[in-house]
Amino acid sequence: MTYEWLDLQIQECFLAAEDIRIYELVDPYGRELPPFEAGAHIQVRVDHEIRHYSLANDPTERRRYVIGVLRDPRSRGGSRQIHETWAVGHRVAVSKPVNHFPLSAAAKRHVLIAGGIGITPILAMARHLAGKAADFQLYYCARQASAAAFLPDLRQVVPEARLSLVFDGGDPKRGLNLAALLETFEPGRHVYVCGPSGLVQAVRAETAHWPADHVHYEIFAAAQALASVSAKFQVVLARSGASYEVPAGRSILSVLEEHGHAPNALCREGYCGTCLVSVLSGTPDHRDSVLTDEEKAANDLVAICCSRAVGDKLVLDI
Ligand code: FES
Repeated sequence: MTYEWLDLQIQECFLAAEDIRIYELVDPYGRELPPFEAGAHIQVRVDHEIRHYSLANDPTERRRYVIGVLRDPRSRGGSRQIHETWAVGHRVAVSKPVNHFPLSAAAKRHVLIAGGIGITPILAMARHLAGKAADFQLYYCARQASAAAFLPDLRQVVPEARLSLVFDGGDPKRGLNLAALLETFEPGRHVYVCGPSGLVQAVRAETAHWPADHVHYEIFAAAQALASVSAKFQVVLARSGASYEVPAGRSILSVLEEHGHAPNALCREGYCGTCLVSVLSGTPDHRDSVLTDEEKAANDLVAICCSRAVGDKLVLDI
């Protein structure tokens, strides 16, 4: 799949919570933007890397996209660069919206669970569902209120009886009781979760007895995790013999794109499997959530959008 790109301008930006800035992007000539659905994201180019940000505003709006950017303290570029350099009037290259996390049209009840910055697509979903007077509950988990962005929007959009704010102060024992919330499966009751991988995995574990098509999730952790990687390694493309250095904090995918290659890639976050390629030699450092434990142990496939090498070289069948 190929993303189409737009040249947009920052109309507004502000610090909305600890380490989270909100950016409002518009067409510089005031034109309507391509439409989007609740759950959609855009991609943003920052140097050679691509970041993926969900849209938080009302999907019926056509004049702006609103994103929230969490500054990752381990970031060498990416979110740190956005926080430090993006200002009102700045032009940015973003993709047209794409949705891999849609609401189910078949659902009768929706359980929305957000952790931290994962509130962005969940907020757009809540706006949509509230506008349709649909049956939903929203659970927003964060360390404390000062770390929770979009609270004023949530309180305005979501009726009080449908909104639960869970601030655990960093103590998991005070967190959302997922076991109780998700214990009972009812046909037509769908759950959606977005946030840190730990929260998403916990929801998946607690819904293991639900039909898979009733559980929807999106993880943003893989690309952020790359920011903390300090080692470099060589990636060799066996078919051409080309060899490139993958520096600290970069993905194989972004290095290949920088050198003119166009590998298949969709989510760029390690969960769709589009970018999987065969490994001919070397050992991958698996960071995706698409391969099973057995597949990871076999080490013959690697998700080049997020995984790296354990040693100093990886030879790929490309
Ligand atoms: S692009 Fe989706 S797993 Fe790599």
